[in-house]
Amino acid sequence: MNKVTVKINGEEDYIVNIGSDLLKDAGSIISEVHAPCRVAYITDFTVGAHYTATVVDSLKDAGFEVFIFAFPAGESSKNMETYEKILEFLADNEITRSDLIVELGGGVVGDLAGFAAATYMRGIDYVQIPTSLLAMVDSSVGGKTSIDLESGKNLCGAFHQPISVICSVDTLETLEKKYFDDGVAEIIKYGMLGNEKILKILHSCVENHDNLYFALKPFLSEIVEESISTKLNFVKSDVYDNGKRQFLNLGHTIGHAIEHASRYAIPHGHAVAVGMCSIARAGEKMNITEEGTANNVTALIRACGLPTSTIISPVDLYNSALSDKKRRGGEISLVIPVKFGECEIKKFKIDELKNILTLGVK
Ligand SMILES: NC(=O)c1ccc[n+]([C@@H]2O[C@H](COP(=O)([O-])OP(=O)(O)OC[C@H]3O[C@@H](n4cnc5c(N)ncnc54)[C@H](O)[C@@H]3O)[C@@H](O)[C@H]2O)c1
Ligand SMILES: [Zn+2]
Repeated sequence: MNKVTVKINGEEDYIVNIGSDLLKDAGSIISEVHAPCRVAYITDFTVGAHYTATVVDSLKDAGFEVFIFAFPAGESSKNMETYEKILEFLADNEITRSDLIVELGGGVVGDLAGFAAATYMRGIDYVQIPTSLLAMVDSSVGGKTSIDLESGKNLCGAFHQPISVICSVDTLETLEKKYFDDGVAEIIKYGMLGNEKILKILHSCVENHDNLYFALKPFLSEIVEESISTKLNFVKSDVYDNGKRQFLNLGHTIGHAIEHASRYAIPHGHAVAVGMCSIARAGEKMNITEEGTANNVTALIRACGLPTSTIISPVDLYNSALSDKKRRGGEISLVIPVKFGECEIKKFKIDELKNILTLGVK
């Protein structure tokens, strides 16, 4: 088992445990950071059907008293209604401030359970057991928790760090391909932000693969660890998302616009993949990005089976981008690759974005 210690300024440290077949040890791993107590175990029905028995048995063996809450899988559950049900469940089962929430699932369960943990009785401890690649490489570090409002995604949330994270990469075997690919897009992003090990593994695996999951399988623990370390580098000096953390938005401004304009028919990672190709193409045309970079990025993304372009028009994307919460005043900050593995943040007037979209999206 590999361990990454997450140290974030001003917050408690915690360990991300990474390996295979860790679910049966969840109870003993958690007992290293929390005394036996009542545990509210939260999952969705899909993930729960695969792994609840193993995790709950392990928690009970370690002396925890477990209360199970499960809800229908998917983004449509990440709302006020499920959040309220979780809070009532915690209260009904007399979970107190010295007790614990343990969540098992993808980013939806993580965000919901994390937000409940952040707010129930003004905050209680929680443990994350991410089971999607996206949740392992992205949401397990950073402490962002949230739910969606009618007006938009992730509009209601809080920063709340878990006390422990357990990434058991064998669980990815049951994850649907499209969700696995979403996580791959974020991994490519970490490569583009300078993680050479990730790029090397990806390049060696994408040649002649029939199935990307099986090609990457021997490297999953290493990839998750490298991804988390890269994210941590950008997060640790910028817990509240004002400066360096913005690099993690590579491909995301255009990506969010694509998700929004497609009414979320195009999944997050797929949209981010197109966003990374588009910003590299536009960067080259604006003489910010070294020539050939766009071709390299596009080739890697295509080889991973992710899309590299969209049929949505630049005007429609521009209108969607205007509603992005990351826009500040009349300016927009864009992360642009200078070359493969190195990016910079540049500010543009918001109406320049229309031209950038026209240059990049094809
Ligand atoms: N907090 C953060 O920092 C952060 C970062 C990135 C994304 N997010 C959020 O994460 C969400 C997306 O995450 P996601 O892609 O994991 O979505 P998700 O949680 O909806 O999971 C995708 C689907 O895969 C299923 N699933 C998950 N793990 C599985 C497994 N091992 N085996 C079988 N099925 C499995 C789920 O039941 C679901 O149907 C979004 O709501 C996004 O806003 C949060
Ligand atoms: Zn993302």
